[in-house]
Amino acid sequence: MFVGDDGERGEDDVSSRALAEELRALAEGGAPGREREVLGSAAARLEALRDERDRLRATIDRALIGIFRTSLTDGRILYSNHRNAALLGYESPADSIANMRASANAYVDPAQRDEMRRRITRDGYVDQFRAAVYCKDGSVKHVVFSARLYPEHGFLEGTMADDTDRVTRERELEAARAELERHSRSLERAVAERTRELSETIRTLREAQRQLVEAEKMAALGGLVAGVAHEINTPVGIGVTAASALAERTRELLATYRGGGLKRSALERYLAVAEEASTIILANLRRAGELVESFKQVAVDQSAEKQRRFNLKPYLESLLVSLRPQLRRAQHRVELHGDDELAVVNYPGALAQVVTNLLMNSLQHAYGEGDRGQITIDCRADDELAWVDYRDDGRGVPNEIAPKIFEPFFTTRRGHGGSGLGLSIAYNLVTQQLGGTIRCERPEGGGARFLFSLARRRVADATC
Ligand SMILES: Nc1ncnc2c1ncn2[C@@H]1O[C@H](COP(=O)(O)OP(=O)(O)OP(=O)(O)O)[C@@H](O)[C@H]1O
Ligand SMILES: [Mg+2]
Repeated sequence: MFVGDDGERGEDDVSSRALAEELRALAEGGAPGREREVLGSAAARLEALRDERDRLRATIDRALIGIFRTSLTDGRILYSNHRNAALLGYESPADSIANMRASANAYVDPAQRDEMRRRITRDGYVDQFRAAVYCKDGSVKHVVFSARLYPEHGFLEGTMADDTDRVTRERELEAARAELERHSRSLERAVAERTRELSETIRTLREAQRQLVEAEKMAALGGLVAGVAHEINTPVGIGVTAASALAERTRELLATYRGGGLKRSALERYLAVAEEASTIILANLRRAGELVESFKQVAVDQSAEKQRRFNLKPYLESLLVSLRPQLRRAQHRVELHGDDELAVVNYPGALAQVVTNLLMNSLQHAYGEGDRGQITIDCRADDELAWVDYRDDGRGVPNEIAPKIFEPFFTTRRGHGGSGLGLSIAYNLVTQQLGGTIRCERPEGGGARFLFSLARRRVADATC
């Protein structure tokens, strides 16, 4: 029925045209009335059918989907429209009919050919069958076709569309997916590796921090020793002066006595001086003894890290005594308030270190040269916790750095003796050793406030 190309006409086309012309000639060639009428309308009908067929043929020839027909006996191409020929790289339908491989050899994968045959034999048709086929130049194209078997006519007819884009897209997608998987696997490996490195770094940092805390503690102890020396100097010095004055007067008295000229009045003067001197010596030796006692306790606490029962306020008092030299140099006033009887079972050494760090910070950061600061420490307690409320009236901690001051190595005095460890050590001691919390606030009236707590009984079975 169809032809390979618009230019050519098949045999039946020629004969139907000739038949119409013949009918018309007969109708016009003097046939009797009724016959002429029949012949005329047959010729018109034939022409109309032919026009209709031509239109259909043109539609199929020019359809935007490949249409083909192959022989059931040898698989040869019997018909191909333009799209079908172009799809497989043929110049024209005629080219494809003349040169296209028999359908059995058109498949790239014989398994696809067999599957197609199996289905079409079973169902009489295939719908949307995907296959890879050879083009004229031997390249491969992915197509999707649907076809129906017409055994009574000995052919198979169907449509074919280009599926290459979809296959390419699918392959690209698959490749992208594989690439992505590869990437995510290598990312996972990198993350695991990085995590391992980071935990190693954290471990090293923790160790460094521990060593720094140790070093800081030693430095504080060094300061304490200097404080002891300075504080004891005064009473010992007074004692020595009084004792040497007494010794001098005693020698004089002895000489007078040996010379036999000792008068009662001279003896009385000596006794008065001796009493005064011994009172002074005694008082100052006591004072020195007390100082040694309190220093000893603070020093032992600071180095031993033992927990024990102690009264919070008196303990802080003795700590302030040991820090007096530094405080006096700066001429700041320190006030300590609270109940003398408030007792805790905790680590006094850690507490001493925290308060020392806060005090040192006030001295270093809060005041300008020559300022006379006021530092206030309040102690109070509830059932579980004791609270130390530490305040200075210096320049305060600016809002923009407040969130960072407890971080290790954060300092605003880098290059001027600040290492940025004081508050981070205080934070760790409060939260880990003392069992409390610490925060920094900006009080209404200015200055800095550090409020921290410590457990009243750090562990239940502590030896007190
Ligand atoms: N009382 C305070 N008044 C004002 N600023 C303070 C006060 N206390 C701490 N700061 C600020 O917090 C920062 C961190 O304090 P931190 O004690 O951790 O380190 P540092 O004192 O600078 O160094 P280090 O204590 O190691 O000698 C300080 O550099 C300072 O800017
Ligand atoms: Mg500090």
